[in-house]
Amino acid sequence: MTRTVYVNGEYLPETEAKISIFDRGFLFADAVYEVTSVLGGKLIDFEGHAVRLQRSLNELDMQNPCTKEELLEIHRKLVEQNNIDEGLVYLQVSRGSDGDRDFVFPPEDTPPSLVLFTQNKPGLANSAASKKGAKIISIEDVRWGRRDIKTVQLLYPSMGKMMAKKAGCDDAWMTQDGYVTEGTSNNAYYVKDGKIVTRPLSNDILHGITRKAVLRMAQEAQMKVEERLFTIDEAKDADEAFTTSASAFVMPVIEIDGVTLGDGTPGPIAKRLREIYLEESLNAAI
Ligand code: PDD
Repeated sequence: MTRTVYVNGEYLPETEAKISIFDRGFLFADAVYEVTSVLGGKLIDFEGHAVRLQRSLNELDMQNPCTKEELLEIHRKLVEQNNIDEGLVYLQVSRGSDGDRDFVFPPEDTPPSLVLFTQNKPGLANSAASKKGAKIISIEDVRWGRRDIKTVQLLYPSMGKMMAKKAGCDDAWMTQDGYVTEGTSNNAYYVKDGKIVTRPLSNDILHGITRKAVLRMAQEAQMKVEERLFTIDEAKDADEAFTTSASAFVMPVIEIDGVTLGDGTPGPIAKRLREIYLEESLNAAI
């Protein structure tokens, strides 16, 4: 089915959508993005994604092409026109183009480019992958130092995912100076003796919208949470582990670098947090 997508003010069939070859998102990865999940035809944590988008834009001195209300309307229209019950809305803002390639930013009045499209993912909330759990490898984190800004510089995370696939696994966790930063497209956690451990927020990781919600829900459910640096060896010695992201919610991890966690099935805390997250998010969806 041909999707309806949004490009710079227009709703178009995906086959007719166009962006300049000089767009700085294309030439310099000079663009930021957000991925918002859709459950029951409604947006999960739209507010959080809109706030983080504004922060990413501010950090890069990039203009926001829309107000929050306009963005919400575009999201909703695309979900409706593409008949999305469960899936994702991808949004990208780039610094646009003044019609040439130049390392220097174009003049400030150059309009940014705004692109949105949907991805239909029936069964996202009940995915087979979440029931099985993910196998993880660890790799060195060689990304740039501002991972708190959600830029489209995703080559290394893509390579990490491919390294994992090659090793017969599902995903990779990255380490820096011996400590886990995050997954290729998610935040990383392990659980030992009932305590959830995850890296604290800094410029080293993306400030996950799902992370924020899940940590709040964990605390409300009287679970113990410790935000501190941790090594891959600590995670391998854990009772269970999991990741969080808008695209996979809470995803149990069952193996790290060939070491099976617990009995090799999704752990009780990850499963419970997934249930709570899905239930509360659905209730609060807009
Ligand atoms: N990725 N860390 C990284 C490096 C990510 O790319 C993501 C999200 C997260 C989780 O953030 P959130 O909970 O806000 O989705 C953490 C999205 C889903 C993606 O690139 O598709």
